[in-house]
Amino acid sequence: MIRIVMSGAGNMGRQIMTAIESAPDLELVGALDGLSTEASVEIAGRQVPLSNSLDSLAKWEPDVVIDFSNAEWTVQLIPAAVAVGVRPVIGTSGLSDDAIAEAERQVNGAGLGGVLAANFALGAVLMMHLANIAAPLFDSVEIIEQHHDGKVDAPSGTAVATAQSMRAARDRDFGRKEAERHNIDGHDSRGAELGGASIHSVRLPGLVAHQVIVFGGNDETLTIRHDSMSRASFIPEILRAARAAPDLDHLVIGLDRLLGLRTD
Ligand SMILES: NC(=O)c1ccc[n+]([C@@H]2O[C@H](COP(=O)([O-])OP(=O)(O)OC[C@H]3O[C@@H](n4cnc5c(N)ncnc54)[C@H](O)[C@@H]3O)[C@@H](O)[C@H]2O)c1
Repeated sequence: MIRIVMSGAGNMGRQIMTAIESAPDLELVGALDGLSTEASVEIAGRQVPLSNSLDSLAKWEPDVVIDFSNAEWTVQLIPAAVAVGVRPVIGTSGLSDDAIAEAERQVNGAGLGGVLAANFALGAVLMMHLANIAAPLFDSVEIIEQHHDGKVDAPSGTAVATAQSMRAARDRDFGRKEAERHNIDGHDSRGAELGGASIHSVRLPGLVAHQVIVFGGNDETLTIRHDSMSRASFIPEILRAARAAPDLDHLVIGLDRLLGLRTD
């Protein structure tokens, strides 16, 4: 049995806790939430102990802490976990490069292992991996990312990360055709540009999170498409990371590295 504490009892935390409850090899021993004042949280009909104090980690003695909370909390959680030999699996967004480097230093320095991944969706990570294979071989590409209309930022972080990693996989910018004339004054509907890749953002009710990457070649195109239907898509790889963490000897950064798609 792998003993697990969930850090963050929000939307993701509750879904992850429900999944842990039905996994025969995982035991949910408690939940941390820095903003909560409740003593327990009901998960799958059971009252799970809930605390807003990092001291509870020592009391509950988990093997692994899974964190889907807030970057401010995560940078406090990691040293507290490492201090009591608990291995972190971190999914919280918005950690700075410095915070990630510090997490790596702390976890590795303590001789522990863990996983930190900005995206736990298997299909999204594979989409980027496949795009990086095609990137050096096609000279033109456009990304169309589509999200629900509640999303506040554009383009999506995934679209930016895709464009950056495709550019890094080749020795020059993609070729891009600029429009010679704009038919709506002041608007360039060719989209944003990063490394020669055009990025188009669609925001509509009814959508969840989708991305299409279209490569253009000589009388052919190649399309790679990923659709995320709900937050449930993250769960299997989060549980994979929690199961892997006890045997890791360093902080693995990125689901692609955990899956062996990337070896650097
Ligand atoms: N890596 C991935 O694949 C992935 C997937 C989904 C979500 N996320 C990220 O996971 C995080 C949580 O997502 P969510 O949808 O569950 O959010 P949420 O808002 O539903 O839950 C966040 C939880 O963190 C707690 N929290 C917020 N601010 C805090 C603070 N300053 N100190 C302590 N606790 C704090 C809240 O009480 C809440 O329980 C976000 O950063 C989100 O972007 C990552």
